[in-house]
Amino acid sequence: MTQAHTVTAHGAAIPAIGLGTFRLEGERCSEAVKAAIAAGYRHIDTAKMYGNEQAVGAGLKLSGIARADVFVTTKIWLDDIAPGDLERSAEESLKRLGLSEVDLLLIHWPNKAVPLERSTAALCEAKRRGLARHVGVSNYTAAMLDETVRLATEPLAVNQVEYHPFLAQDSVLAACRLHGMVLTSYCPLGRTAVLGERAVREIATRHGKSASQVILRWHVQQPGVVAIPKSGTPRHIAENLDVFDFALTADEMSALSALRRPGGRVVDPEFAPDWDRDAA
Ligand SMILES: NC(=O)c1ccc[n+]([C@@H]2O[C@H](COP(=O)([O-])OP(=O)(O)OC[C@H]3O[C@@H](n4cnc5c(N)ncnc54)[C@H](OP(=O)(O)O)[C@@H]3O)[C@@H](O)[C@H]2O)c1
Repeated sequence: MTQAHTVTAHGAAIPAIGLGTFRLEGERCSEAVKAAIAAGYRHIDTAKMYGNEQAVGAGLKLSGIARADVFVTTKIWLDDIAPGDLERSAEESLKRLGLSEVDLLLIHWPNKAVPLERSTAALCEAKRRGLARHVGVSNYTAAMLDETVRLATEPLAVNQVEYHPFLAQDSVLAACRLHGMVLTSYCPLGRTAVLGERAVREIATRHGKSASQVILRWHVQQPGVVAIPKSGTPRHIAENLDVFDFALTADEMSALSALRRPGGRVVDPEFAPDWDRDAA
């Protein structure tokens, strides 16, 4: 891996900034992946649900990066998380990506119809079969995480959840740290909603950085936090990785965390779990 800044969890070394790829498809997606690798990214996030695993695989090939030098995550959609279905879905993802294993395989969302015992057993089985080097979950509450860690026979490396200054994740972050897991922030820019905030702009001006860079710095400056900003714009892709040459003060970190607000959540489908109270 040449991306210097990594966060570790149960043997996984995860580059602290990854490229999110939701809503990037076809050639645009492949080109974004290629641009990201050229800019120095070594971590790409995809999912079966994004319909772009093939394009991500093509982008990795185009980039010329050695397989061992890039950390690839994919996710199993919630209707495929029962034993048998999950392993089959992972195999199909690998075929589309053109890889023999992913670095990280996540359950994309919990499914109330599939008990945690069953989905966790299937996830661990996928790792044992060599379909993924590491496994984890996404959109799990703190209590679900505690229960899943108790049930799992393989270490869980990650919980990927929505996290940005408008949405607190104190409970999930504490649970991740307790279990030695990484919290991967999705929608780390709040899908741009946070970029216009006055406090963000003031801090950005002070450091000679962009609003996005300030927000991403806020993420990666928190122990055990990784962020996966999505961009299809080469200038933004490069800018989003360039956050390791400055540091926010403790006051600036607190000022950004203080932007949390009711209604700050961007992603809240009807099948979502009952979120932790501090992240509602
Ligand atoms: N596990 C889950 O359930 C889940 C849910 C949602 C998302 N995700 C993952 O998280 C990734 C990121 O989340 P997201 O895509 O929803 O939201 P996001 O990364 O917070 O925001 C993406 C938006 O920000 C813009 N942007 C990026 N960099 C910028 C910059 N430097 N300056 C100005 N604008 C910038 C992008 O536009 P341009 O493309 O023009 O740069 C795009 O409109 C997804 O792509 C996906 O991989 C996971």
